[in-house]
Amino acid sequence: MWRASILTLYPDMFPGPLGTSLSGDALARGTWSLETHNIREHGLGRHRAVDDTPAGGGPGMVIRADVLASALDGALPAVDERPRLLMSPRGRPLTQARVRALAAGPGVAIVCGRFEGVDERVIEGRGLEEVSIGDYVLSGGEIASMVLLDACVRLLPGVMGKEASGSEESFEGGLLEYPHYTRPREWEGRAIPETLLSGDHARIARWRADEARRLTAERRPDLLKGD
Ligand code: ADE
Repeated sequence: MWRASILTLYPDMFPGPLGTSLSGDALARGTWSLETHNIREHGLGRHRAVDDTPAGGGPGMVIRADVLASALDGALPAVDERPRLLMSPRGRPLTQARVRALAAGPGVAIVCGRFEGVDERVIEGRGLEEVSIGDYVLSGGEIASMVLLDACVRLLPGVMGKEASGSEESFEGGLLEYPHYTRPREWEGRAIPETLLSGDHARIARWRADEARRLTAERRPDLLKGD
């Protein structure tokens, strides 16, 4: 079983959308497991404080190293092969290649950040790897962690109906996907491209490859440059 352990201040957010659809069915079948740990339980004092003001001044609050370390040490087994990720806009951008590698492993342990950030010392001291899901700022790492989990879980054996739907989609071939059509043949004056109705499979494959390349050049030239 592929195992996900989540450290968060908002365990009620889980499983959230991961409890429905493909990932929810796979969770119910035991293809993967999801365990949440409330960082607040390791908070200090009567108010269970988890954060404090930043050293050096400035806005926002920072999650304390001692509190997060105690949450991690309490939640995760001493011997654990899983990568320890920290969802953060400062992280290395998540890619389909990384998703594939994570899905092929034993699972993930994920810390969901909130506030301005996490004390740098616990990132170093507990070997956390920062991962970003894109160049925008969310109010916390929870939704980002769900994005990562969804991307991984759909690749687990038996989760997707057709094996082909795993590999042919956007990014798996390094290009954006070609456009799709289905019935009716004509809708609001728009026809399905004639090639797709030709029954000529080689011609259809060529049309799709051309469209994928055209769309990628138009929308994501960076993917063609291979950077
Ligand atoms: N937390 C806040 N913004 C984030 C992002 N873009 N990626 C990952 N975690 C985040």
